[in-house]
Amino acid sequence: MKTYSIALIPGDGIGRDVTASAWTVLETVAKHSGFALTGTELPWSCRFFKETGRMMPEDGIETLRRFDAILLGAVGWPTEVPDSVSLHGLLLPIRKAFVQYANIRPHRLLPGVRGPLRAESFDILCIRENTEGEYSGAGGRVHQGTLDEVAVETSIFTRAGVERILRFGFEQARARRGRLASVTKSNAQKYSMVFWDEITRKLAADYPDVDVTSYHVDALAARMIMDPQSLDVVVASNLFGDILTDIGAAIQGGLGYAASANINPDRSAPSMFEPVHGSAPDIAHLGIANPIAAIWSGAMMLEHLGEKDAAGRVMNAIEATTARGVGTTAGKDRTDAITSAVVAALT
Ligand code: IPM
Ligand code: MN
Repeated sequence: MKTYSIALIPGDGIGRDVTASAWTVLETVAKHSGFALTGTELPWSCRFFKETGRMMPEDGIETLRRFDAILLGAVGWPTEVPDSVSLHGLLLPIRKAFVQYANIRPHRLLPGVRGPLRAESFDILCIRENTEGEYSGAGGRVHQGTLDEVAVETSIFTRAGVERILRFGFEQARARRGRLASVTKSNAQKYSMVFWDEITRKLAADYPDVDVTSYHVDALAARMIMDPQSLDVVVASNLFGDILTDIGAAIQGGLGYAASANINPDRSAPSMFEPVHGSAPDIAHLGIANPIAAIWSGAMMLEHLGEKDAAGRVMNAIEATTARGVGTTAGKDRTDAITSAVVAALT
């Protein structure tokens, strides 16, 4: 039987609750679909940091490299470990080390879920650059703590990095409704963003079937609210994609529904799947976190592993569940109840 080995990193807070839920659904669909999943739980988290002084062991990346995919819950416990330490010690290094340069985030309304907008249907796929740009981590501080202190944080945009994410966006648009929105702020940022726009125009010649439009990020943010139906695939830099995908989550009903995949398209290293939401320490372990974003991320993992049929079954089960009104109102249904409903809807 085909077997996939999955690294499970539940992480912190509700990451633990929702990863357990997603794993239950994934194990069930694997049984129905004739393949096996073996999960290896890794306790890397802020608690692990408090015990060991590291978010993951020194050889953590090498350990992860052996797996077919990584399923992650959430990282962060800001009252105990500063976010800048926890994220730079676990989530961000994994994205970079495994060249997971495409962060894919689908934004659409599930049946039965009411978003805050008048628009009743939209289907946006955000592609966020995930390894460089504004989150490259290049910079420093001098004269710390003095009145002369200076902090510099430099965005890094490489031709290779921009080309590959834009190509990825064009390919996704080609496979969907043929429309690509390329997002910059080239009216204000005259080096990196003009560079991005130029590469967008250059690549457009290779994709005559894709209708590509360049937008400034502020205008695109407004469009996601005012006219989300007009958008198909959106491709953006790391920071802009980060912000736009929280808007995407909001318009799809909240972070409880926002899934994501950190993809290494070349398959030279494992990809990682995680809900967009954070660890929400205030509701951790109360059993009330919505696991749908994590389950949906699990479906994206199956799709990436080539188990398209099983991925489709999980999506259908999520939709059948929300169509019945389960998991559609914050705080109404418990994590376990939503999980059981999805499991029961699997065929
Ligand atoms: C996300 C998160 C992370 C990011 C944070 C926690 C570093 O906000 O996945 O969107 O910005 O990448
Ligand atoms: Mn974010």
